Amino acid sequence: MKVVIKNGRVIDPSQGIDGVCDLAIEDGKIKEVKSEKSRGKSQKHENNRGTKEIDASGKLVLPGLVDLHVHLREPGYEYKETIRTGTTAAVRGGITSVCCMPNTNPVNDNSSVTEFILKKAASEGACRVFPIGAITKGQKGEELAEMSIMYEAGCVAFSDDGRPVMDSLMMRRAMEYSRILKVPLISHCEDLALSAGGVMHEGLLSVTLGLKGIPPQAEEVMVARDIALAELTGGRLHIAHVSTEGSVALIRSAKKRGMADVTAETCPHYFSITEEAVGNYDANAKVNPPLRSRKDAEAIKQGLHDGTIDVIATDHAPHHRDEKLGEFDFAPSGISGLETSLGLSMRLVDEGVLTYSGLVEKMALKPSGIIGIDRGTLRPGAEADVVVVDCSREYRVDAGEFLSKGKNTPFGGWTLSAKPVLTISLGRIHEWE
Ligand code: DOR
Repeated sequence: MKVVIKNGRVIDPSQGIDGVCDLAIEDGKIKEVKSEKSRGKSQKHENNRGTKEIDASGKLVLPGLVDLHVHLREPGYEYKETIRTGTTAAVRGGITSVCCMPNTNPVNDNSSVTEFILKKAASEGACRVFPIGAITKGQKGEELAEMSIMYEAGCVAFSDDGRPVMDSLMMRRAMEYSRILKVPLISHCEDLALSAGGVMHEGLLSVTLGLKGIPPQAEEVMVARDIALAELTGGRLHIAHVSTEGSVALIRSAKKRGMADVTAETCPHYFSITEEAVGNYDANAKVNPPLRSRKDAEAIKQGLHDGTIDVIATDHAPHHRDEKLGEFDFAPSGISGLETSLGLSMRLVDEGVLTYSGLVEKMALKPSGIIGIDRGTLRPGAEADVVVVDCSREYRVDAGEFLSKGKNTPFGGWTLSAKPVLTISLGRIHEWE
Protein backbone atom coordinates (compact mmCIF):
# COMPACT_ATOMS: atom_id res chain seq x y z
CA MET A 1 0.00 0.00 0.00
CA LYS A 2 1.11 3.54 -0.76
CA VAL A 3 0.43 6.38 1.64
CA VAL A 4 1.41 10.04 1.40
CA ILE A 5 1.13 12.31 4.41
CA LYS A 6 0.98 15.76 2.86
CA ASN A 7 1.79 19.28 4.00
CA GLY A 8 2.71 18.46 7.60
CA ARG A 9 5.69 19.91 9.47
CA VAL A 10 8.02 16.93 9.42
CA ILE A 11 10.49 16.74 12.31
CA ASP A 12 13.21 14.13 11.96
CA PRO A 13 16.46 14.84 13.83
CA SER A 14 18.06 11.73 12.29
CA GLN A 15 18.14 13.60 8.96
CA GLY A 16 18.17 17.15 10.27
CA ILE A 17 14.67 17.74 8.88
CA ASP A 18 12.31 20.35 10.30
CA GLY A 19 10.01 21.79 7.65
CA VAL A 20 6.82 21.37 5.68
CA CYS A 21 7.22 18.20 3.62
CA ASP A 22 5.31 15.28 2.14
CA LEU A 23 6.12 11.90 3.63
CA ALA A 24 5.74 8.98 1.24
CA ILE A 25 5.29 5.42 2.53
CA GLU A 26 5.31 2.27 0.44
CA ASP A 27 4.86 -1.33 1.55
CA GLY A 28 5.25 -0.46 5.20
CA LYS A 29 8.53 1.41 4.74
CA ILE A 30 9.42 5.08 4.48
CA LYS A 31 9.96 5.86 0.81
CA GLU A 32 10.95 9.51 0.92
CA VAL A 33 10.51 12.87 2.58
CA LYS A 34 9.85 15.50 -0.08
CA SER A 35 10.41 19.13 0.77
CA GLU A 36 8.24 21.90 -0.71
CA LYS A 37 10.91 22.68 -3.30
CA SER A 38 11.36 19.15 -4.61
CA ARG A 39 7.59 18.62 -4.53
CA GLY A 40 7.11 21.52 -6.93
CA LYS A 41 9.52 19.99 -9.44
CA SER A 42 8.27 16.43 -9.46
CA GLN A 43 4.53 16.95 -9.01
CA LYS A 44 3.46 16.76 -12.65
CA HIS A 45 5.13 13.39 -13.21
CA GLU A 46 3.34 11.74 -10.36
CA ASN A 47 0.62 9.20 -10.66
CA ASN A 48 -1.31 9.19 -7.39
CA ARG A 49 -3.73 6.40 -8.23
CA GLY A 50 -3.87 3.76 -5.50
CA THR A 51 -2.23 6.10 -3.02
CA LYS A 52 -3.94 7.02 0.24
CA GLU A 53 -3.43 10.71 0.81
CA ILE A 54 -3.54 12.15 4.31
CA ASP A 55 -3.65 15.90 4.79
CA ALA A 56 -1.49 16.94 7.74
CA SER A 57 -1.63 20.72 7.14
CA GLY A 58 -0.89 22.59 10.35
CA LYS A 59 0.16 19.38 12.13
CA LEU A 60 3.46 17.81 13.14
CA VAL A 61 4.62 14.60 11.48
CA LEU A 62 7.09 12.69 13.67
CA PRO A 63 8.74 9.28 13.75
CA GLY A 64 6.71 6.92 15.97
CA LEU A 65 7.93 7.28 19.55
CA VAL A 66 10.08 4.66 21.27
CA ASP A 67 9.42 4.06 24.97
CA LEU A 68 12.24 2.37 26.89
CA HIS A 69 10.26 1.88 30.09
CA VAL A 70 6.81 0.26 30.08
CA HIS A 71 5.10 -2.25 32.36
CA LEU A 72 2.79 -4.35 30.20
CA ARG A 73 1.98 -6.66 33.17
CA GLU A 74 1.51 -9.79 31.05
CA PRO A 75 2.06 -12.59 31.97
CA GLY A 76 0.51 -12.67 35.41
CA TYR A 77 -1.14 -9.33 36.10
CA GLU A 78 -3.62 -9.17 33.25
CA TYR A 79 -6.13 -7.47 35.53
CA LYS A 80 -3.83 -4.42 35.44
CA GLU A 81 -2.86 -4.51 31.74
CA THR A 82 -2.25 -6.91 28.89
CA ILE A 83 0.05 -6.83 25.91
CA ARG A 84 -3.01 -6.04 23.80
CA THR A 85 -4.33 -3.16 25.93
CA GLY A 86 -0.90 -1.73 26.74
CA THR A 87 0.25 -1.61 23.13
CA THR A 88 -3.12 -0.17 22.05
CA ALA A 89 -2.69 2.60 24.64
CA ALA A 90 0.86 3.15 23.38
CA VAL A 91 -0.32 3.67 19.81
CA ARG A 92 -2.98 6.10 21.11
CA GLY A 93 -0.12 8.04 22.69
CA GLY A 94 1.94 8.10 19.46
CA ILE A 95 4.31 5.37 20.68
CA THR A 96 5.10 2.62 18.18
CA SER A 97 7.81 0.68 20.04
CA VAL A 98 7.69 -0.28 23.71
CA CYS A 99 10.29 -1.99 25.85
CA CYS A 100 8.53 -4.01 28.53
CA MET A 101 9.92 -4.44 32.01
CA PRO A 102 10.38 -7.94 33.45
CA ASN A 103 8.45 -7.62 36.74
CA THR A 104 5.67 -9.88 35.52
CA ASN A 105 4.55 -13.16 37.06
CA PRO A 106 6.52 -15.23 36.28
CA VAL A 107 9.35 -12.73 36.03
CA ASN A 108 10.92 -12.46 32.57
CA ASP A 109 14.13 -14.08 33.78
CA ASN A 110 14.35 -16.91 31.24
CA SER A 111 13.92 -17.38 27.51
CA SER A 112 10.51 -19.11 27.77
CA VAL A 113 8.95 -15.97 29.22
CA THR A 114 10.73 -13.81 26.63
CA GLU A 115 9.40 -16.04 23.85
CA PHE A 116 5.90 -15.95 25.33
CA ILE A 117 5.94 -12.13 25.32
CA LEU A 118 7.22 -11.95 21.76
CA LYS A 119 4.61 -14.45 20.51
CA LYS A 120 1.79 -12.66 22.28
CA ALA A 121 3.01 -9.32 20.93
CA ALA A 122 3.20 -10.72 17.39
CA SER A 123 -0.40 -11.95 17.53
CA GLU A 124 -2.08 -9.29 19.70
CA GLY A 125 0.21 -6.26 19.85
CA ALA A 126 -0.71 -2.97 18.24
CA CYS A 127 2.97 -1.96 18.12
CA ARG A 128 6.41 -3.51 18.36
CA VAL A 129 7.36 -4.93 21.75
CA PHE A 130 10.99 -5.28 22.82
CA PRO A 131 11.33 -7.34 26.01
CA ILE A 132 13.73 -6.39 28.79
CA GLY A 133 15.05 -9.37 30.71
CA ALA A 134 15.64 -9.51 34.45
CA ILE A 135 19.22 -9.10 35.70
CA THR A 136 18.72 -11.61 38.51
CA LYS A 137 16.54 -14.69 38.82
CA GLY A 138 13.11 -13.74 40.13
CA GLN A 139 14.48 -10.18 40.52
CA LYS A 140 15.63 -11.40 43.92
CA GLY A 141 19.15 -10.02 43.57
CA GLU A 142 20.69 -13.37 44.55
CA GLU A 143 21.69 -15.09 41.32
CA LEU A 144 22.28 -13.75 37.81
CA ALA A 145 19.67 -14.66 35.22
CA GLU A 146 20.79 -16.37 32.00
CA MET A 147 21.45 -13.10 30.25
CA SER A 148 23.07 -14.47 27.07
CA ILE A 149 20.30 -16.99 26.47
CA MET A 150 17.67 -14.31 27.00
CA TYR A 151 19.57 -12.01 24.68
CA GLU A 152 19.46 -14.73 22.01
CA ALA A 153 15.71 -15.05 22.64
CA GLY A 154 15.19 -11.35 21.94
CA CYS A 155 15.81 -9.29 25.08
CA VAL A 156 17.20 -5.87 24.18
CA ALA A 157 18.29 -4.81 27.67
CA PHE A 158 18.37 -6.08 31.26
CA SER A 159 16.86 -4.60 34.40
CA ASP A 160 15.44 -5.60 37.77
CA ASP A 161 13.20 -2.54 37.56
CA GLY A 162 10.87 -2.14 40.48
CA ARG A 163 13.80 -3.25 42.60
CA PRO A 164 17.48 -2.34 42.70
CA VAL A 165 20.32 -4.86 42.51
CA MET A 166 21.64 -4.18 46.02
CA ASP A 167 24.63 -6.53 45.81
CA SER A 168 27.41 -4.52 44.16
CA LEU A 169 29.36 -7.60 43.09
CA MET A 170 26.25 -8.96 41.36
CA MET A 171 25.85 -5.62 39.58
CA ARG A 172 29.51 -5.71 38.59
CA ARG A 173 29.10 -9.14 37.00
CA ALA A 174 25.92 -8.06 35.22
CA MET A 175 27.74 -5.03 33.80
CA GLU A 176 30.52 -7.27 32.56
CA TYR A 177 27.92 -9.30 30.67
CA SER A 178 26.31 -6.12 29.36
CA ARG A 179 29.65 -5.10 27.90
CA ILE A 180 30.10 -8.46 26.18
CA LEU A 181 26.50 -8.55 24.88
CA LYS A 182 26.60 -4.85 23.95
CA VAL A 183 23.23 -4.22 25.58
CA PRO A 184 22.40 -1.74 28.34
CA LEU A 185 21.71 -2.53 31.96
CA ILE A 186 18.80 -0.36 33.01
CA SER A 187 19.30 0.45 36.64
CA HIS A 188 16.52 1.14 39.13
CA CYS A 189 18.60 3.21 41.53
CA GLU A 190 17.28 2.86 45.07
CA ASP A 191 19.13 2.08 48.27
CA LEU A 192 16.58 -0.11 50.04
CA ALA A 193 17.95 0.68 53.48
CA LEU A 194 17.51 4.41 52.91
CA SER A 195 14.09 4.11 51.29
CA ALA A 196 12.68 1.46 53.68
CA GLY A 197 9.06 2.16 54.56
CA GLY A 198 9.03 5.41 52.57
CA VAL A 199 6.04 6.32 50.43
CA MET A 200 6.79 9.86 49.24
CA HIS A 201 9.60 12.44 48.99
CA GLU A 202 11.22 13.20 52.37
CA GLY A 203 10.69 16.81 53.39
CA LEU A 204 8.43 19.22 55.18
CA LEU A 205 5.38 17.95 53.30
CA SER A 206 5.95 14.30 54.24
CA VAL A 207 6.24 15.37 57.88
CA THR A 208 3.07 17.47 57.61
CA LEU A 209 1.15 14.61 56.01
CA GLY A 210 2.52 12.11 58.52
CA LEU A 211 3.90 9.91 55.74
CA LYS A 212 7.35 8.31 55.79
CA GLY A 213 9.69 10.00 53.34
CA ILE A 214 12.31 8.74 50.90
CA PRO A 215 15.35 11.06 50.74
CA PRO A 216 16.83 11.93 47.33
CA GLN A 217 20.04 10.25 48.53
CA ALA A 218 18.30 6.85 48.34
CA GLU A 219 18.52 7.30 44.59
CA GLU A 220 21.78 9.21 44.42
CA VAL A 221 24.04 6.78 46.31
CA MET A 222 23.03 4.08 43.83
CA VAL A 223 23.52 6.36 40.82
CA ALA A 224 27.03 7.07 42.15
CA ARG A 225 27.68 3.35 42.74
CA ASP A 226 26.51 2.33 39.30
CA ILE A 227 28.57 5.02 37.58
CA ALA A 228 31.59 3.74 39.53
CA LEU A 229 30.82 0.17 38.44
CA ALA A 230 30.41 1.25 34.82
CA GLU A 231 33.82 2.89 35.10
CA LEU A 232 35.26 -0.32 36.53
CA THR A 233 33.73 -2.68 33.97
CA GLY A 234 33.25 -0.62 30.81
CA GLY A 235 29.68 -1.89 30.87
CA ARG A 236 26.71 -0.06 29.43
CA LEU A 237 24.63 1.69 32.06
CA HIS A 238 21.24 3.31 31.49
CA ILE A 239 19.81 4.97 34.57
CA ALA A 240 16.04 4.65 34.83
CA HIS A 241 13.53 7.27 36.01
CA VAL A 242 15.92 9.99 37.24
CA SER A 243 14.06 12.11 39.80
CA THR A 244 16.59 14.24 41.72
CA GLU A 245 18.89 17.21 41.27
CA GLY A 246 21.78 15.23 42.78
CA SER A 247 21.37 12.39 40.26
CA VAL A 248 21.43 14.88 37.39
CA ALA A 249 24.68 16.34 38.77
CA LEU A 250 26.29 12.88 39.10
CA ILE A 251 25.33 11.88 35.55
CA ARG A 252 26.48 15.24 34.18
CA SER A 253 29.88 14.84 35.78
CA ALA A 254 30.22 11.23 34.51
CA LYS A 255 29.47 12.41 30.99
CA LYS A 256 31.95 15.27 31.35
CA ARG A 257 34.60 12.68 32.21
CA GLY A 258 33.86 11.05 28.86
CA MET A 259 31.69 8.12 29.99
CA ALA A 260 29.80 7.82 26.73
CA ASP A 261 28.23 4.51 27.77
CA VAL A 262 26.29 6.10 30.62
CA THR A 263 22.83 7.24 29.56
CA ALA A 264 19.80 8.31 31.54
CA GLU A 265 16.05 8.75 31.29
CA THR A 266 13.45 10.69 33.17
CA CYS A 267 9.65 10.56 32.97
CA PRO A 268 7.03 13.26 32.34
CA HIS A 269 5.82 13.20 35.95
CA TYR A 270 9.24 14.22 37.28
CA PHE A 271 9.27 17.49 35.34
CA SER A 272 5.51 18.19 35.23
CA ILE A 273 4.50 17.89 38.89
CA THR A 274 6.06 17.80 42.35
CA GLU A 275 5.46 16.19 45.76
CA GLU A 276 2.59 18.68 46.17
CA ALA A 277 0.51 16.37 43.95
CA VAL A 278 0.38 13.88 46.84
CA GLY A 279 -1.50 16.68 48.65
CA ASN A 280 -4.68 15.05 49.74
CA TYR A 281 -3.20 11.56 50.03
CA ASP A 282 -3.87 10.99 46.32
CA ALA A 283 -2.42 7.55 45.60
CA ASN A 284 -2.46 8.34 41.88
CA ALA A 285 0.55 10.52 42.68
CA LYS A 286 2.35 7.67 44.46
CA VAL A 287 5.22 6.50 42.32
CA ASN A 288 8.69 5.10 42.85
CA PRO A 289 11.00 7.04 42.88
CA PRO A 290 8.62 9.57 44.40
CA LEU A 291 7.63 12.93 42.99
CA ARG A 292 10.22 15.37 44.27
CA SER A 293 10.59 19.07 45.06
CA ARG A 294 10.25 22.01 42.67
CA LYS A 295 14.05 22.38 42.72
CA ASP A 296 14.47 18.77 41.60
CA ALA A 297 11.93 19.21 38.79
CA GLU A 298 13.79 22.30 37.58
CA ALA A 299 17.10 20.41 37.66
CA ILE A 300 15.53 17.61 35.59
CA LYS A 301 14.49 20.18 32.98
CA GLN A 302 18.00 21.62 32.97
CA GLY A 303 19.36 18.08 32.54
CA LEU A 304 17.07 17.54 29.56
CA HIS A 305 18.05 20.89 28.10
CA ASP A 306 21.83 20.40 28.35
CA GLY A 307 21.83 16.76 27.23
CA THR A 308 22.60 15.17 30.60
CA ILE A 309 19.32 13.27 30.37
CA ASP A 310 19.11 11.48 27.04
CA VAL A 311 15.62 10.04 27.05
CA ILE A 312 12.05 10.69 28.13
CA ALA A 313 10.35 7.36 28.92
CA THR A 314 6.94 6.85 30.52
CA ASP A 315 7.54 4.24 33.25
CA HIS A 316 3.94 3.35 32.38
CA ALA A 317 2.88 1.48 35.52
CA PRO A 318 -0.82 0.60 35.33
CA HIS A 319 -2.57 -0.58 38.48
CA HIS A 320 -6.14 -1.58 39.22
CA ARG A 321 -8.46 1.16 40.50
CA ASP A 322 -9.19 -0.74 43.71
CA GLU A 323 -5.48 -1.04 44.53
CA LYS A 324 -5.06 2.73 44.32
CA LEU A 325 -8.20 3.41 46.37
CA GLY A 326 -6.82 1.89 49.55
CA GLU A 327 -4.76 3.63 52.21
CA PHE A 328 -1.88 5.68 50.74
CA ASP A 329 0.73 3.68 52.64
CA PHE A 330 -0.39 0.43 51.07
CA ALA A 331 -1.28 1.53 47.54
CA PRO A 332 1.13 0.27 44.86
CA SER A 333 3.44 2.83 43.21
CA GLY A 334 3.00 3.80 39.61
CA ILE A 335 1.42 6.11 37.05
CA SER A 336 -0.35 5.11 33.85
CA GLY A 337 1.66 7.20 31.42
CA LEU A 338 1.36 6.08 27.81
CA GLU A 339 -1.52 8.34 26.86
CA THR A 340 -0.28 11.58 28.44
CA SER A 341 3.44 11.34 27.75
CA LEU A 342 3.59 13.28 24.48
CA GLY A 343 1.15 15.98 25.61
CA LEU A 344 3.07 16.57 28.85
CA SER A 345 6.49 16.47 27.18
CA MET A 346 5.42 18.89 24.46
CA ARG A 347 5.02 21.50 27.22
CA LEU A 348 8.82 21.50 27.38
CA VAL A 349 8.85 22.94 23.87
CA ASP A 350 6.40 25.68 24.90
CA GLU A 351 8.66 26.45 27.88
CA GLY A 352 11.79 26.63 25.71
CA VAL A 353 13.46 23.66 27.44
CA LEU A 354 13.61 21.65 24.21
CA THR A 355 13.04 22.29 20.52
CA TYR A 356 10.67 20.03 18.58
CA SER A 357 13.70 18.30 17.19
CA GLY A 358 15.23 17.91 20.65
CA LEU A 359 12.00 16.39 21.90
CA VAL A 360 11.89 13.83 19.08
CA GLU A 361 15.49 12.98 19.84
CA LYS A 362 14.62 12.19 23.48
CA MET A 363 11.42 10.30 22.68
CA ALA A 364 12.36 8.39 19.53
CA LEU A 365 15.89 8.63 18.16
CA LYS A 366 18.03 8.27 21.31
CA PRO A 367 16.01 5.46 22.88
CA SER A 368 16.33 3.53 19.59
CA GLY A 369 20.08 4.07 19.63
CA ILE A 370 20.39 2.90 23.24
CA ILE A 371 18.79 -0.48 22.50
CA GLY A 372 20.25 -0.67 18.99
CA ILE A 373 17.09 -0.75 16.88
CA ASP A 374 16.55 1.00 13.57
CA ARG A 375 13.50 2.99 14.70
CA GLY A 376 12.79 6.55 15.70
CA THR A 377 13.66 7.80 12.21
CA LEU A 378 11.92 8.70 8.94
CA ARG A 379 14.95 7.74 6.88
CA PRO A 380 14.06 6.04 3.56
CA GLY A 381 13.93 2.28 4.07
CA ALA A 382 13.04 2.49 7.78
CA GLU A 383 9.82 0.93 9.14
CA ALA A 384 6.93 3.31 8.57
CA ASP A 385 6.32 4.12 12.25
CA VAL A 386 4.77 7.58 12.16
CA VAL A 387 2.71 9.84 14.38
CA VAL A 388 0.79 12.95 13.33
CA VAL A 389 0.25 15.42 16.16
CA ASP A 390 -2.25 18.25 16.39
CA CYS A 391 -0.87 21.02 18.59
CA SER A 392 -3.62 23.49 17.82
CA ARG A 393 -6.51 22.04 19.80
CA GLU A 394 -6.65 21.88 23.57
CA TYR A 395 -8.10 18.79 25.21
CA ARG A 396 -8.85 17.67 28.73
CA VAL A 397 -7.19 14.55 30.13
CA ASP A 398 -9.90 12.08 31.10
CA ALA A 399 -8.58 8.80 32.52
CA GLY A 400 -11.97 7.24 31.78
CA GLU A 401 -11.10 7.53 28.10
CA PHE A 402 -7.69 5.85 28.41
CA LEU A 403 -7.35 2.71 26.32
CA SER A 404 -4.96 1.40 28.99
CA LYS A 405 -6.60 -0.60 31.77
CA GLY A 406 -4.64 1.61 34.16
CA LYS A 407 -6.64 4.74 34.91
CA ASN A 408 -4.15 5.76 37.62
CA THR A 409 -3.04 9.23 36.63
CA PRO A 410 -2.46 12.41 38.63
CA PHE A 411 -3.07 14.38 35.40
CA GLY A 412 -6.83 13.85 35.16
CA GLY A 413 -8.54 17.16 34.35
CA TRP A 414 -5.34 18.75 32.99
CA THR A 415 -5.55 20.66 29.74
CA LEU A 416 -2.95 19.61 27.17
CA SER A 417 -2.52 20.69 23.62
CA ALA A 418 -0.43 18.15 21.72
CA LYS A 419 -2.65 15.28 20.67
CA PRO A 420 -1.71 12.39 18.42
CA VAL A 421 -4.46 12.22 15.78
CA LEU A 422 -2.95 9.52 13.58
CA THR A 423 -0.42 6.78 14.29
CA ILE A 424 0.95 4.31 11.78
CA SER A 425 2.20 1.16 13.47
CA LEU A 426 2.80 -2.34 12.11
CA GLY A 427 1.40 -1.23 8.75
CA ARG A 428 -1.95 -0.18 10.23
CA ILE A 429 -3.26 3.38 10.22
CA HIS A 430 -5.02 4.45 13.43
CA GLU A 431 -6.92 7.73 13.26
CA TRP A 432 -8.74 9.68 15.96
CA GLU A 433 -10.77 12.89 16.12
O1 DOR B 1 6.27 3.46 40.48
C1 DOR B 1 6.77 2.43 40.04
N1 DOR B 1 6.01 1.42 39.60
N2 DOR B 1 8.12 2.30 40.02
C2 DOR B 1 8.72 1.15 39.71
O2 DOR B 1 9.92 1.11 39.70
C3 DOR B 1 7.91 -0.05 39.39
C4 DOR B 1 6.58 0.31 38.90
C5 DOR B 1 5.60 -0.84 38.86
O3 DOR B 1 5.96 -1.91 38.40
O4 DOR B 1 4.45 -0.64 39.25
